[in-house]
Amino acid sequence: MLMEEEFVANQEKFKPHEEKSEEERLRVEDLRGTPMGVGSLEEIIDDNHAIVSSAVGAEYYVSICSFVDKDSLEPGSSVLLHNKVLNVVGILADDVDPMVSVMKVDKAPLESYASIGGLESQIQEIKEAVELPLTHPELYEDIGIKPPKGVILYGEPGTGKTLLAKAVANSTSATFLRVVGSELIQKYLGDGPKLVRELFRVAEDMAPSIVFIDEIDAVGTKRYDANSGGEREIQRTMLELLNQLDGFDARGDVKVLLATNRIDTLDPALLRPGRIDRKIEFPLPDEKTKRRIFSIHTSKMTLADDVNLEEFIMSKDDLSGADIKAICTEAGLMALRERRMKVLHDDFKKAKENVMYKKNQGIPEGLYL
Ligand SMILES: Nc1ncnc2c1ncn2[C@@H]1O[C@H](COP(=O)(O)OP(=O)(O)OP(=O)(O)O)[C@@H](O)[C@H]1O
Ligand SMILES: [Mg+2]
Repeated sequence: MLMEEEFVANQEKFKPHEEKSEEERLRVEDLRGTPMGVGSLEEIIDDNHAIVSSAVGAEYYVSICSFVDKDSLEPGSSVLLHNKVLNVVGILADDVDPMVSVMKVDKAPLESYASIGGLESQIQEIKEAVELPLTHPELYEDIGIKPPKGVILYGEPGTGKTLLAKAVANSTSATFLRVVGSELIQKYLGDGPKLVRELFRVAEDMAPSIVFIDEIDAVGTKRYDANSGGEREIQRTMLELLNQLDGFDARGDVKVLLATNRIDTLDPALLRPGRIDRKIEFPLPDEKTKRRIFSIHTSKMTLADDVNLEEFIMSKDDLSGADIKAICTEAGLMALRERRMKVLHDDFKKAKENVMYKKNQGIPEGLYL
């Protein structure tokens, strides 16, 4: 009898424990959840049914769960779909394409105007064409002209185009969206143009804003000779870009900044007045600029007394800003290899030889056509 009593008492004691663990298990299960598909709502048929499309393209006629807020459902919004039966089980509140939200530059890049050597007139021009209209639109109104919609930066590789755009992003108070041309090329037909539209829509939402498209030649090549489907899709992306630049809807507070090193391959329509009418050329640095760039990139290095940078500045080789940076880095690495604390003139000499050799490698020597 005693034993039985004890047993029953124990049972009573352990039971809540079991219940509790069951409850905890359920909660964990809840947290884990089941994966849900993301689709976009195409059409609402009646109160309880809708047509949705998933990322793969197929469309489904599905029912809408009763707990979904039907007032905020509208065609085009992103919805959560049950993973098996594809019922609409929720709405993604923020229907900004995730691709676009990635493009927003939240953390300002470290490069500022101070880390650019030379390029004074380019900096001034970009300030006038891009920043001033955003901060002081009234100035343009007073004079009675429309500020340019955008500018294109072009010039040889490594002359500081991307660098300048970073400096703009660093200093501006406007929203800065950055894209690389190749990102606009998407896998599925129609996705590229859609992304462009989305990009400009977000830019407008967050106005004043600057849209920076680097390496625009990826999408902006001449319109005619396209034969494959992929190429045509790229062109459609560019046409959408033209359309957005033309701005059927006035986009006063969105400025476009393009960068390329092959302006000759771009479609002339992109560059005609009214779209991108300011063209800013980035030339190879002259002597004064080279001196500035050298001093910027050697400012944190410990140089030996015999280093004479003038020799490199005065030489007749075409050095771009990127080459100069590479020479400085390479010289530093050579000193590091020999565990020296100071960088010698010889290091710079060798570094320059290396850099020039690598730069010219693609061109066979002594072959003149
Ligand atoms: N004027 C300059 N002053 C200081 N550094 C420079 C300058 N120009 C280029 N550089 C250096 O060269 C590097 C490469 O420049 P950047 O990325 O701006 O080239 P780019 O013009 O965009 O070339 P690409 O056309 O190939 O994209 C920069 O990170 C910077 O360190
Ligand atoms: Mg660049």
